[in-house]
Amino acid sequence: MEILGIDIGGSGIKGATVDTVSGTLRAERLRIDTPQPSTPEAVTEVVCTLVRHFEWTGPVGCAFPAIVKSGVTRSAANVDKGWVNYPAQEKLGQHTGCPLVLSNDADAAGIAEFTFGAGQGHPGLVLVITLGTGIGSAMFYRGVLVPNSELGHLEIRGREAEKWTASVVRKRMGLKWKEWGARLNDYLAHLEFIFSPDLFILGGGVSRRFERFSPYLNLETEVVPAALRNDAGIIGAALAARHLAEA
Ligand code: BGC
Repeated sequence: MEILGIDIGGSGIKGATVDTVSGTLRAERLRIDTPQPSTPEAVTEVVCTLVRHFEWTGPVGCAFPAIVKSGVTRSAANVDKGWVNYPAQEKLGQHTGCPLVLSNDADAAGIAEFTFGAGQGHPGLVLVITLGTGIGSAMFYRGVLVPNSELGHLEIRGREAEKWTASVVRKRMGLKWKEWGARLNDYLAHLEFIFSPDLFILGGGVSRRFERFSPYLNLETEVVPAALRNDAGIIGAALAARHLAEA
């Protein structure tokens, strides 16, 4: 079963057709810079460009970097504030002309990791943490997702975690792996204390460089990189729309 997966991020919007049975991309993915300002209208235009590029008329799964409840985007930490309380699923569906399901981006990445990646069959409490423009989180207990957990916005020593530890902060401030690794360790240690997870799965583009920062992590909990790396959002977005293809 093939579904077009689209992962909307603070800096790039990526799409590819996904085989939802094998969890693999069926076509080379296309990435377009996120328009600035990232208003609903401008982002919708890019989503439509991706749909046209893949000559797509079937179901679409879309991942978005905000709280998503019943298809409505409820926050906008790293995108234009016009997305707050915006009926995004309905509008994107109308403009693309395709049946479309919208999910939080970290939840989508988590679903992909649980179905095909590092979380497969895990019986305990797993936190999937995505490190990108912001910090996203997906929390699973015995394979069941608790949606919209938003753990990137936890405050540690008076600072919002994602403003101090997101991957983009490392690049923007030119932090060495050791310095950024120490920040990440602080953050994960805090999550470890609050949730006592059995496994951390780290996603986002930086998960490719896991070997560079993992030496600076000193936690009781096992930490692994996302197996699907940066494609987890695209694949998970498509998986979340599977019921449309089955209908
Ligand atoms: C948003 C989350 C999102 C994360 C990663 C955060 O700023 O609040 O909804 O999952 O960034 O994109």
